[in-house]
Amino acid sequence: MTTTTTQVKHEVKDLALAPQGRQRIEWAGREMPVLRQIQERFAQEKPLAGIRLIACCHVTTETAHLAIALKNAGADSLLIASNPLSTQDDVAASLVADYGISVFAQRGEDNETYHRHVQLALDHKPNIIIDDGSDVVATLVQERQHQLADIIGTTEETTTGIIRLKAMFRDGVLTFPAMNVNDADTKHFFDNRYGTGQSTLDGIIRATNILLAGKVIVVAGYGWCGKGTALRARGMGANVIVTEIDPVRAIEATMDGFRVMPMSLAAPQGDIFITVTGNKHVIRAEHFEVMKDGAIVCNSGHFDIEIDLKSLGEMATEVKQVRNFTEQYRLNSGKSVVVLGEGRLVNLAAAEGHPSAVMDMSFANQAMACEYLVKNRGNLEPGLHSIPEEVDKEIARLKLQAMGIAIDSLTPSQVEYVNSWTSGT
Ligand code: ADE
Repeated sequence: MTTTTTQVKHEVKDLALAPQGRQRIEWAGREMPVLRQIQERFAQEKPLAGIRLIACCHVTTETAHLAIALKNAGADSLLIASNPLSTQDDVAASLVADYGISVFAQRGEDNETYHRHVQLALDHKPNIIIDDGSDVVATLVQERQHQLADIIGTTEETTTGIIRLKAMFRDGVLTFPAMNVNDADTKHFFDNRYGTGQSTLDGIIRATNILLAGKVIVVAGYGWCGKGTALRARGMGANVIVTEIDPVRAIEATMDGFRVMPMSLAAPQGDIFITVTGNKHVIRAEHFEVMKDGAIVCNSGHFDIEIDLKSLGEMATEVKQVRNFTEQYRLNSGKSVVVLGEGRLVNLAAAEGHPSAVMDMSFANQAMACEYLVKNRGNLEPGLHSIPEEVDKEIARLKLQAMGIAIDSLTPSQVEYVNSWTSGT
């Protein structure tokens, strides 16, 4: 760990990368008008003064703007990476050197370093934890019970993290409030759908430079991320197959115009496979065996467990890096399977994650969720809490305003009509 003269703690790749990082952070800011307004308000009102906060996020240009908002708010904060392959080293450097924010994150860090950073973050004795995937909260409740009294609450960014928090609550270990940022309308409708849709294809294209038009793309999972990915893949001219385990989502995918079938039938047909289920081993040995020669597999779900890479490694006679983020596994049969981004989030490993315009709303929710936790300190029950509707709607209003889009409002007689039940047929 290094401490600079200004007491900013850091473990980043190279502080000399800061100028490039700063330029990229400023560029992203152009597309983040909602968070900018929150940064400005926070600088005046200091709603997080005296609060120790840790954020475990993908260290990107967009996260930089969240970190700046938290700093403006007066929080004593520290940022760590939420995934070993998602850190943008120039951004990490700039946050330390230009913005005076403590960061522990290096692209390509090994699992041991990743977990050491989680411990270092918890050593900061946080009152609030911003989590993306719930690794920090899971570590806190298992290993640091003596720190629970300090905790005001946590905010969770992603579907996988929300599933883990629900399991923690069920098991009686989530003893503090957790703000469900993922389920805010202004988060998942845009970030999970359009963000994942665009950035996943961006990652595939940057890693492979292949044409998507005419390819058979298999999307595993038809949650919000799967919906966005299938939609955008079709938009690029691909022939899209969806696999699902949920019958309602399977009907939805069918009526949205996609072919739906089990992975066992999709495996021999696909050119490209994208997993976005949140579950493990969605693509496994029996599927690799029947894939076409040269099939490409990648994952855009939170953890690198959706593709059974251990089995693929055991089936391979040779593994060769053929491009950046692209590894070719040669199988006994003579066929090959190509894996992108080591099975980690392909949109962050091979591209830059979701575009700033959607992260604007996601991180506006994060910032306002932290403010809400502090304002309601001591009054919130343990367990998951929705982002209040007025916060969600306010973020949508600010976004529309920034986009220059006006909408209608109800006339007085319409208000009366929607509030009455007497006028029917
Ligand atoms: N998750 C997905 N895309 C992201 C981004 N650009 N920044 C931070 N977290 C993300």
